[in-house]
Amino acid sequence: MKLLAFIMQTGGHIAGWRHPLATDSALCNVDYFVSCAKTAERGKFDAVFFADSLGYPGSRSAETFEGQETPKLDPLPLLSAVAPVTQRVGLIGTTSTTYNEPYPTARRFATLDHISRGRAGWNIVTSTMENEAHNHGFERHMGHAKRYQRAAEFVDAARKLWDSWQPGALLADQDSGRYADASRISAVNHSGEHFRIAGPLNLPRSPQGHPVLVQAGASADGKAFAARYAEVVFTSHPAIDSAIGLRREMHERAAAFGRVKGAIKVLPAITPYIGRTREEAQAFKQELDELIPLPIALEKLETLLGGFDLSDHDLEGPLPALPPEHLEMQSSTRDRVLEAAGQADATVRKLAYQVAGGRTSSAAIGTAEDVADMLSEWYEAGAADGFIISPPVLAYGLETFVDQVVPILQARGLFRKDYEGETLRDHLGLAVPENRYEKDPQLRIKPEIW
Ligand SMILES: Cc1cc2nc3c(=O)[nH]c(=O)nc-3n(C[C@H](O)[C@H](O)[C@H](O)COP(=O)(O)O)c2cc1C
Repeated sequence: MKLLAFIMQTGGHIAGWRHPLATDSALCNVDYFVSCAKTAERGKFDAVFFADSLGYPGSRSAETFEGQETPKLDPLPLLSAVAPVTQRVGLIGTTSTTYNEPYPTARRFATLDHISRGRAGWNIVTSTMENEAHNHGFERHMGHAKRYQRAAEFVDAARKLWDSWQPGALLADQDSGRYADASRISAVNHSGEHFRIAGPLNLPRSPQGHPVLVQAGASADGKAFAARYAEVVFTSHPAIDSAIGLRREMHERAAAFGRVKGAIKVLPAITPYIGRTREEAQAFKQELDELIPLPIALEKLETLLGGFDLSDHDLEGPLPALPPEHLEMQSSTRDRVLEAAGQADATVRKLAYQVAGGRTSSAAIGTAEDVADMLSEWYEAGAADGFIISPPVLAYGLETFVDQVVPILQARGLFRKDYEGETLRDHLGLAVPENRYEKDPQLRIKPEIW
């Protein structure tokens, strides 16, 4: 079983920052993030994973803005600070392909892979919040399909750059005076709809060949992208059946691209609410949900429904039918909420709290044994290759998971007792990618720089 720790601000619950157990609500202190990474490493987690976005989540009023934690340190410098004080745990950071360029992005991740000695991973996102568009000179994002087309070309270009130095290209031979072997360095000469890049990268190939590629798209375009490029896929499911179906689908789709079995790991996100008893765990979740102000819960639901204004609707009544313009954008998360809205006892208030209290994962509520049972059941039923653990309140929730749930999974023989390898690829059982220019020297292009 693979385990990743999702470090999103003060935790996987939107009101986690208000809970007395939250460690550091200011979110600008590197010690907090280092301590979370060290806890994950103590628990032998495959990796920590830092989420990101390039702006603020939409807020309709100062009141709802004021009620939400907002700081986000840039994950790459942050992971670079975590790298030298940890030894084994993988370091996954989020970067958008919609508002960045392949060359500096490929370089940043190669840098992280070098300085962490092979522990880097890239969570590839296409950006969803309107404010991210406004911060980059646009009224709105380019269309969903176009964002994924750009993402595909972006990753193609980045992979060429990561291949541009073959293994053995770096000589640093003081006696002969040859620093590099020019015959092992290639230009990339990428020319596509979105990017033109000469290359080569100004860095030797990194320990993992390239960072582990991670992705969480759940739409049809997102899944097609993941099947082709992703090595780890994050998913989010309300129930085991859909998780089994999606994992099977992802494996089939990846095989259709000629990828070998096991080349793609599917990890559903789970938020564990752990108590000494089930009642205590339920009470913990309830306590957190009660800390969400109603206007924020409603706003989260409205945003998910494409800005649908619910202010005139009865909170205790069913969700009204959505006008077609609110359904134009593909969104798997929205479709799930609409499914939940179809149930007999669904009310606008309940849906709002469900959306706001859930963030990006499913809840596992109970004792440590209950949580371990749920993970074991999903894993053994083929619903998951492992999990993204998104504790509701950090660092407390991660410590509890590591101290109480991990030993049960280890005792059941489902999770490692110690690291066996050095790199994130080792932990995940993923091969180092082939270097295209080494595999086929005919592809090599002489760089224009000499
Ligand atoms: C566990 C998990 C973590 C995610 N982390 C981020 C993130 O850090 N930044 C981001 O912009 N989107 C993040 N997302 C959202 C996805 O990138 C994606 O936009 C979403 O799953 C919808 O997929 P779609 O665009 O294919 O519909 C995350 C999703 C999941 C399930």
